[in-house]
Amino acid sequence: MSVRIAPSILSADLARLADEIAMVEAGGADWIHIDVMDGRFVPNLTFGAKVIESVRKLTRLPLDVHLMVVEPENYFESFAEAGANGMTIHTEVSPHLQRQLNRIRELGCRAGAVLNPSTPLNAVSEVIPDLDLLLIMTVNPGFGGQQFIKGSVDKVRRAREMLAENGSTAYLEVDGGIDRSTIKSVWEAGADTFVAGNAIFNAKDPKAEIGELRARCTIEV
Ligand code: DX5
Ligand code: ZN
Repeated sequence: MSVRIAPSILSADLARLADEIAMVEAGGADWIHIDVMDGRFVPNLTFGAKVIESVRKLTRLPLDVHLMVVEPENYFESFAEAGANGMTIHTEVSPHLQRQLNRIRELGCRAGAVLNPSTPLNAVSEVIPDLDLLLIMTVNPGFGGQQFIKGSVDKVRRAREMLAENGSTAYLEVDGGIDRSTIKSVWEAGADTFVAGNAIFNAKDPKAEIGELRARCTIEV
C-alpha cells in the first residue's frame, strides 16, 4: 500500500511560505495540507481562498484542503477555483453529507469526510461510496502541535475494516500529533495518508524528516 505524507502549512513560517513549500517538496512530500479554520467550528482562524490560490502558484503537488468550518458548502466553488485538489469536510457540521460530498466531486475535487475524535465511525457508514478519502482526527482540531490521542489507533483499525468490507478504495488519512513516535501505530492500523505539521516544520531538518516519517511505515524484518 502506498504512503502519502502531507505536510500541514499551519506549522510553516508563513513569512517564508514559498521557501517552506519548496523545501517540503524537495523532501518528497506527496500533498500539501491546508487547514481552513473559521473561529466557529474550531476556536482558531487561518486561511481562505486567497491563500489556497497563492499556494497553488508555488507548487504542483496536490492541495489537500481540510475545512474546519461551519456550512463548508459556502466555500466549495471558490476553493475549487483557487486550486484545491481535495476538500475534506467535518461530519459534525455537514447534515447533508451525501449531497455535499457529491458537490465536491462535481467540482472535480477529491471528496473527503472527517471525524472528530468523539465522532463514531457510523457517521460515514451510509456514504462510503461517496468518499474518496476518510480522515480520522487523532487530536481535537483547531491547533497544531497537540498530543496524539492513543485511542485513535483502534478507530483507524476499525475504519480500515469498514472501508475494506465495503470494497472502498478511499484513502484513509490521519491528522494530529503524527510524528516519528506515533506514525507507525496508525500505519499498522491501516492509515495510508499522514498529515504532519509540527513534526516536519519544527524538525532540525524538515526535508529529511519526511523521509524519516515515511521510513517508519514499513514492516520490520
Ligand atoms: C489540527 C489540524 C492539523 C494540524 C496538525 O486541527 O487539522 O492539520 O496542522 O498539526 P500537528 O501535526 O502539529 O499536530
Ligand atoms: Zn488538518
